[in-house]
Amino acid sequence: MALSPLGSGLFAATNARKRLPIFSALPYLQPGANSKLQAGQESLVVAWQTLDGGDFSVSYGPSKAMGKAANVRVVRRWSGSMEDGELRWNYVANLEGLSLGAKVFYRVSCDGQTVLEGYGTTRQPRGEKVRFVSFGDNSFGDLSDHQIAYQAYMQNPDFVMNTGDNVYDGGLDDEYARFFFPVYNSDVVGPHTGAPLLRSVPFYSVIANHDVHDKDAQKRPVADFDINPDSLGYYTALHLPLNGLDSPFPTLVKAETDEGKQKLAQFQAAAGARMNRMANYSFDAGDAHFTCLDSNIYVDPSDQTIQNWVENDLVVTDARWKFVVYHHPAFNVGAEHYTEQHMRALHPIFERHGVDFVLNGHEHSYQRARPLRFAPQNMDGAKNLNSKKRLVPGAFSVDRHFDGRKNTRSEGVIHIVTGAGGKHLYDPEWNGNPEHWKWPADGNIEYVEQFRSDVHSLTVFDVDTHRLAMRQIDQWGDEIDSIVVEKAAK
Ligand SMILES: [Fe+2]
Repeated sequence: MALSPLGSGLFAATNARKRLPIFSALPYLQPGANSKLQAGQESLVVAWQTLDGGDFSVSYGPSKAMGKAANVRVVRRWSGSMEDGELRWNYVANLEGLSLGAKVFYRVSCDGQTVLEGYGTTRQPRGEKVRFVSFGDNSFGDLSDHQIAYQAYMQNPDFVMNTGDNVYDGGLDDEYARFFFPVYNSDVVGPHTGAPLLRSVPFYSVIANHDVHDKDAQKRPVADFDINPDSLGYYTALHLPLNGLDSPFPTLVKAETDEGKQKLAQFQAAAGARMNRMANYSFDAGDAHFTCLDSNIYVDPSDQTIQNWVENDLVVTDARWKFVVYHHPAFNVGAEHYTEQHMRALHPIFERHGVDFVLNGHEHSYQRARPLRFAPQNMDGAKNLNSKKRLVPGAFSVDRHFDGRKNTRSEGVIHIVTGAGGKHLYDPEWNGNPEHWKWPADGNIEYVEQFRSDVHSLTVFDVDTHRLAMRQIDQWGDEIDSIVVEKAAK
């Protein structure tokens, strides 16, 4: 706004600039479609959402002088309930031709006015250190969510690896607008306000049960566009690698009414190839490789197509450290989801190809298992689709020598449940009580070494070529667990 002189000391307000659209999501960074590390071919995505359209442009470059203009695309998708919703504008700009490990400045403008200026850093090449944070099961924008967002930001990570259920209750687009973006892309940094994480670093996630939260007539999980016309915000709000498989167990959708069919068609046009490619994907960062999988109860991980894709993904990477990330923990001693063990079907593949860590959520607690090997005895539970009764019995081999301090060479896969990222905590009475951390169906084997269910927390990984440090940080910033894993030079 400017004041124009009218003479005699009088001024009139003039509004030379057009008003900006109302934002339902301020600009945020995403990793985009890239999977492998390729010098000079790195890219980042800047995305944002508005209630009405505008003449947006994005510039970017290695300094604040920017220098390059990004192509801005827009799709519209429904957000909100059928009675009280609207088509929102989902913008996306690709920052391309970037170097690895490079700082990238970006500016989003509308009608010539700067909306937001920021910077991010592209993925580190092999041989460079990487710090990332991991947490899952965020909530409805509760205080605990804000605390975890703040603590995550204060760790100055290179990226976030969320373990799923990043939005409650149904993974709806409007829930992203209300509970996700305001917390993890907050303008103000603080334990009560959250942090501008999303505009600073890429945020990876995995699809989880709260993303596919309705049920069809056969009681299968489905995204029902008649009931929730803004379902599956995961596939439109996020921009993740697209190197995944054509899963034989895709995310199920349903629409029978004309309105539901229309909303589903709008969603599919907006999501494009991201549905279902973003259900299973992989990427690299520094010396680490991440295999991210859909573990929802409509997936049979003993299926040969799934097993082949996971095996091939782990074979072809030359990364020193291998992480597998999915929502439903295969080795978890909590009461709520103990029987959902179907992902145990993949464990022999993880062992064959040297997976170091598996990261999960779903249980709202922190659990660290000892390095373990596991031979499934039968796959009946893994094949019992759309049920929570999916026990997979088998033979354990637990590495009790590893302590993460003096003995840092692990024999087996370390499973971490980091689902204390915001939602109410499960089994608080089991905290500090190892008697509860075992189950008869697993021969009462004490494979879980740490179990914290009295505080919300997140996991911080520092990955170097031969050494990895893992710390668990609670919502107040205190360290509640830590280990080091070391590897000899190849
Ligand atoms: Fe969950």
